[in-house]
Amino acid sequence: MNDAPKQPLISGPRLAGRTALVTGAGLGIGRATAICLAQHGARVIATDIDDTRLSDTLSMLPEGSDALAHRADVTDEQSVSDLFALVGETAPLDILVNNVGGGRPGRIWELSLEDWETTMRLSLASMFLCTRAALPGMIERGYGRVVCLSSGARNGTVWNALHMGACAYSTAKAGIIGFVRDLAIELADSGVTINAVAPGPIDTELAGPFLRAMDEADLPYAPSKMVPMGRLGTPEEVANAILYLASSEASYVTGTTLDVAGGR
Ligand SMILES: NC(=O)c1ccc[n+]([C@@H]2O[C@H](COP(=O)([O-])OP(=O)(O)OC[C@H]3O[C@@H](n4cnc5c(N)ncnc54)[C@H](O)[C@@H]3O)[C@@H](O)[C@H]2O)c1
Repeated sequence: MNDAPKQPLISGPRLAGRTALVTGAGLGIGRATAICLAQHGARVIATDIDDTRLSDTLSMLPEGSDALAHRADVTDEQSVSDLFALVGETAPLDILVNNVGGGRPGRIWELSLEDWETTMRLSLASMFLCTRAALPGMIERGYGRVVCLSSGARNGTVWNALHMGACAYSTAKAGIIGFVRDLAIELADSGVTINAVAPGPIDTELAGPFLRAMDEADLPYAPSKMVPMGRLGTPEEVANAILYLASSEASYVTGTTLDVAGGR
């Protein structure tokens, strides 16, 4: 009656023999994810728009990691096509982490259409282009894990909204949920799962100083006041959630969004 695959209890290394592509692996959550997946035995292809950041990430991977770095702008169709040509020469891709995202903040009346479109390209076009390129191979082989980075901002984030305005970013991060929900249904019988992780305020190299400044200024809506756990999260805490969704053990989890947000 029940033909669910027998799953062993989780033990490491959880990703031995798997190949993972992580976008935006040059800093922050992407870098922590590349390190985490490599620690669990994955061959890691790290990509970023910034070569220096990328080579720093490679130097932080555990000794003996099977990894390579490739510069790409994942908002650009040709650049993504070149990236996936390299992936195709390397190994069949098992895991895609669509980590690149972000955008231009601002009150709506201050935003230009170009600001809006830049945010959509960074957070949505990047995910569309990489997922479109990755899925045919995964479907053909009957196995794949796609993890996308949404954000608590998908519901509006108080500190972003009150401090500077972030409607474009919130819109894009909500769009990721629709993408993941639809594709999970389209892919349900393919062996490929697709999920999102929605971090709260994370103490990364770029976002951390901005988030901590609001805490230090004791603003009424400062992140640590709005988060039940009363602190910022770490990139490693997000990477560990991504690891789970990227693992074979998460075989019955698809179309979901996992909050990593200290109780928010
Ligand atoms: N940091 C947070 O507090 C937080 C909270 C919620 C969600 N997120 C989401 O998590 C993801 C990672 O966040 P982060 O703060 O670690 O990222 P980040 O802004 O620090 O950037 C990570 C990397 O992306 C690279 N990058 C930027 N544009 C690129 C492009 N076009 N092509 C390739 N690489 C590019 C950068 O060079 C950088 O190394 C994003 O999607 C972000 O929206 C972050």
